[in-house]
Amino acid sequence: MNFLNKNILLCVTGGIAAYKSAEIIRLFKKNGADVRVVMTESAKEFITPLTLQAISGNEIHDSLLDVKAESAMGHIELAKWADIILVAPCTAETIAKITHGRANDLMGAIILASKASVFIAPAMNMNMWLDQSTQENCKKLSSRSISIIGPADGEQACGDIGPGRMVDPENIVELISSSIKIGPLAGKVITITAGPTREQIDPVRFISNNSSGKMGYALAEAAIESGALVNLISGPVSIDTNKSVSLYKINSANEMLEKVDELMPNTDIFIGCAAVSDFKPSHYYENKIKKEDLNVIDIELEKNEDILSHVAKVYKSSYVVGFAAETKNVKENARKKLLNKNLNMIISNDVSDKSIGFDSDQNEVNLITKSESIFLKKDKKIRIAREILKQISLNIN
Ligand code: CTP
Repeated sequence: MNFLNKNILLCVTGGIAAYKSAEIIRLFKKNGADVRVVMTESAKEFITPLTLQAISGNEIHDSLLDVKAESAMGHIELAKWADIILVAPCTAETIAKITHGRANDLMGAIILASKASVFIAPAMNMNMWLDQSTQENCKKLSSRSISIIGPADGEQACGDIGPGRMVDPENIVELISSSIKIGPLAGKVITITAGPTREQIDPVRFISNNSSGKMGYALAEAAIESGALVNLISGPVSIDTNKSVSLYKINSANEMLEKVDELMPNTDIFIGCAAVSDFKPSHYYENKIKKEDLNVIDIELEKNEDILSHVAKVYKSSYVVGFAAETKNVKENARKKLLNKNLNMIISNDVSDKSIGFDSDQNEVNLITKSESIFLKKDKKIRIAREILKQISLNIN
């Protein structure tokens, strides 16, 4: 089971099986999910909010009309936050309520407002379950793509024997796991470098380049979508990242190298997308260089370590992907870099074409491995990024 990077909203309603919701939360969390809990008033008669808060590690949400709660994370935010909504236990009353699209409490409003996958795990007396109105309601819910888990047969709290028991937590979580699409890179750790580096000459001047960081950030986003854990080591750019990305801001190539070495022992896939300065000033002036002191200034530059080659050489078990920023003989030069740097894949990029260059939102690339070359025609960087991640997952799985 894998719920890495998944946001799960558990709605607990008032049935005796509510005590099992603690175990459901524990199982989701154990498998990587972030869990938030909504409780109806009657659910609190069966299990305390404090218990579910302690296990989920998040405050319980229980009110649509509480100004304080709504200002912290309101029903619309919760609806958007959730990837998966599970109502467990789900009473007959709740089933009727969802069927009719009622929004007079927090749970109802969230379910109406959300685009998440919704699952319900009914739990009630067998006659209530078998009643025609409950059965008709469930039919309607199924036709709206709400998944109904159970109920199970067996002895009920009231002594009756028949269908109406909530399915066991382990089975509920297992069923949801197999029914949601887990990304092809679930569980993998991907480290990505992005943006330019800055090589300081003195406290106010530096050598850098035109990289916008957009491609690297798009890769980080696509990597999150594919289920991976993502480290993004970024030079100075100001782009928002998905909150699941672990972002490390650096300035110089040396700082980038240090961070890479720190993260690589736990990395499965490395993507070098940064425009790393190839050279840095040999000497750093501690104080600002004053122009009246000099008519001509010679700045000697020395080579920075090639981070990508270093990674391919030292961390042999990782899958290593590079970018080749070229202005002519694009594919040929990229292929040389693939071999010289001993990479698994290289993405060639024609940076002389302004429409797909450094600051553009679009790109057009060739994805080259030792055995194949795939042309990805001009498209948004996020789409190109998704395709790159897809090809990487096909190559490593
Ligand atoms: N790269 C790196 N460290 C460097 C220089 C480059 O990790 N010091 C990586 C880039 O992130 C990219 C790849 O190497 O993935 C190719 O970068 P590019 O600038 O295209 O080529 P260079 O190797 O620097 O060679 P040249 O500038 O001569 O084309």
